[in-house]
Amino acid sequence: MSGLKLEHVSRTFGGLHAVSDVSLTVSPGHITGLIGPNGAGKTTLVNLISGLLFPTTGTIHLGNSDISRLEPDTVARQGIARTFQTIRLLKDASVLDNVVAGFHRHERASLTAALLGLPSARRETARLREQAATLLERFGMLAYALTPAGNLSYGHQRRVEMMRALASQPRLLLLDEPVAGMNDREADALGEIFTSLAEDGLAVLLIEHNLRFVLSLCQVLHVLDAGCLIASGDPHEVRAQAHVVAAYLGG
Ligand SMILES: Nc1ncnc2c1ncn2[C@@H]1O[C@H](COP(=O)(O)OP(=O)(O)OP(=O)(O)O)[C@@H](O)[C@H]1O
Ligand SMILES: [Mg+2]
Repeated sequence: MSGLKLEHVSRTFGGLHAVSDVSLTVSPGHITGLIGPNGAGKTTLVNLISGLLFPTTGTIHLGNSDISRLEPDTVARQGIARTFQTIRLLKDASVLDNVVAGFHRHERASLTAALLGLPSARRETARLREQAATLLERFGMLAYALTPAGNLSYGHQRRVEMMRALASQPRLLLLDEPVAGMNDREADALGEIFTSLAEDGLAVLLIEHNLRFVLSLCQVLHVLDAGCLIASGDPHEVRAQAHVVAAYLGG
C-alpha cells in the first residue's frame, strides 16, 4: 500500500464527536472526493492527516509509516502537502518567490544559506527557480511570475497556493475546498490540472461543496455527515443513495 490509509480514526473536542470511526484510503493516481455538509468534519480530517491535530483513537498510515502522531513538519517531509480553506500566502512576495518558499519550507538549513547569499545557495536557488517556472507553466501562471501574490485575483491566488504546496514534491495532496468562490470555467480549468497531477501518480484528496465539480473529477467519493462516513464508493452510485441526498442536499 503506497497511498494513505485511515483506520477507525476519531477525534473529539470536549463532548463533540467531530470525526467518528472513519476508515478510508487515498490511492496514488486517483482523485478521491470527500463531501459533506458544513461542520461535517472535513477540515478536521485534513488537520488530522496533516498533523495539526492528533486522533483521539485510530491510526493513519502513509505507505508503511504510521504518521498518526507526527508533527506537521514531519508529516510534510513524509510527502503530504495541503492547501487551506482560507488562502495563506506571502502577499508582498512575488508569485515565483511564494512557490520557491514552498521548496524551502522543509529545509531550514538551505533557507538560511540562501538568506546569507552563499554561492552554493545561489546555484541551488537558480535550480529551484527553474523548477518553480515549470510549475508556473503547468498552472498557466508564467505571466504573473513577478507579480506580488497579494495583487492577484482570488482564483490566481488559489493557484499560487497549490503551486506552493506542490513545490515540496508531495506524494499526497490535500485540497480543502480549492475552487470555493470560483466560477465554473475557472473551476474546470483547475480540475483539468488536478486530473493531470493524478495521472502523474499523485494521490489527491479533494474536499469540495460543488457536487458537479466533484462528480466530474473523482474516481472514488466519500460522504461525511456529523463526523461519520455515511457512504463510500463509485461517485455516481454514492450520489444516487437516498441517505446521501437527504444529508447533503437537504432532503
Ligand atoms: N479546534 C477545534 N476545537 C473545537 N471544535 C472544533 C475544532 N475544529 C473543528 N471543530 C468543530 O468540529 C466540527 C467539524 O468542523 P470542521 O471544520 O471539520 O467541518 P467542515 O466539514 O470542514 O465544515 P465546512 O464545510 O464548514 O468547512 C464543527 O462542529 C466544528 O465546530
Ligand atoms: Mg472545512
